[in-house]
Amino acid sequence: MRVLVTGGAGFIGSTFLLRTLDRCPGASMTCLDALTYAANPATVTELARQPRIDLAHGDLVDFAFVDDTVRRLRPDLVVHIAAETHVDRSIQDPLRFVRSNVDGTLSLLEAVRRHCPSARFHHVSTDEVFGALGDLGAFAEDARYNPGNPYSATKAASDHLVRAYVNTHRLRATITHASNTYGPRQYPEKLIPLMLTRALEGSPLPVYGTGMQVRDWLHVDDHADAIWAVIERGEIGESYNVGSGNEHTNLDLVRALCRAIADATGRDLASLEGLITHVADRPGHDHRYALATEKIRRVCGFSPRVELHAGLSATVRWYLANPDWVSRAKTADFGRWLEAQYAARLAPEAA
Ligand code: DAU
Repeated sequence: MRVLVTGGAGFIGSTFLLRTLDRCPGASMTCLDALTYAANPATVTELARQPRIDLAHGDLVDFAFVDDTVRRLRPDLVVHIAAETHVDRSIQDPLRFVRSNVDGTLSLLEAVRRHCPSARFHHVSTDEVFGALGDLGAFAEDARYNPGNPYSATKAASDHLVRAYVNTHRLRATITHASNTYGPRQYPEKLIPLMLTRALEGSPLPVYGTGMQVRDWLHVDDHADAIWAVIERGEIGESYNVGSGNEHTNLDLVRALCRAIADATGRDLASLEGLITHVADRPGHDHRYALATEKIRRVCGFSPRVELHAGLSATVRWYLANPDWVSRAKTADFGRWLEAQYAARLAPEAA
């Protein structure tokens, strides 16, 4: 089996590739990746060590490159994970999100339609396409799309393109909508790795607004396994929610992370929690995401396995055990991002 994974050098993509290597001993895999800031060179080296993984370095927006890669490989399975994914960056630079997430998805769909129209195609999307919830309820797969930020609007557009290709060209596609994912190899702009790496340095932990927003936390191994379950057992043209039922306010989650760090390092819990700093809120901050996950359980037999506190502890241990990965994530670009996103928020006069 020939497998093409877009965004394979990123967080979810690399986890999916490495787990699929173990799961499918006969598979040869190609990681198509633009190697943007989110692809850590240490992750790329780890993938390059695997004889059954090849790297196709290029951008999905470059249709000639995508067309040529898909024509050459003629994959049996295409797993589309590549995307710009950070909500805060989409507020600062939305055009980049439209290019990568919308144009990039269309370019891939078109190349697959031309060169391997019977390939199985799986599109990795997000719970954010449904927009925000109040304190109660959960979105089922047929909930109305109502994206609330530029990132989720571009993911919604890419979902519509995938469905349009299922309808128009009989593309054999499925979609997953997953909740907030965490675990090893996540670029430290997202909540958990940002707070973890900053807590280890003793830097302030910037919680947006009240910190009472709620997210459902899914371990990346569970996310990768859910994608595989849908590829194996999902029905063509259908979408599946992937959640964990681990709902917490951001403040509670950051405190739980501080506890996991204190346990792993022997540091003083009160000092770690003392780093928590409330800062100006994210504009249009979605209050809560939650998913009904009965469909993936019933149709694909998938249930998440990683308990949140065990997952947080393992994640803390992974970051402690991989200082090279962490230092390679802290590039000049990352420094500029921290400055643009947090310097004014954390300045004493902002308090
Ligand atoms: O729900 C799935 C989505 O989860 C994915 O599709 C997105 O790609 C992923 O980025 C994530 O979106 P969020 O905006 O929920 O994730 P983020 O880690 O940026 O933030 C999680 C929560 O923490 C959110 O309520 C904002 C808050 N936050 C985040 C950062 C980076 C803070 O309070 N402070 C921060 O510095």
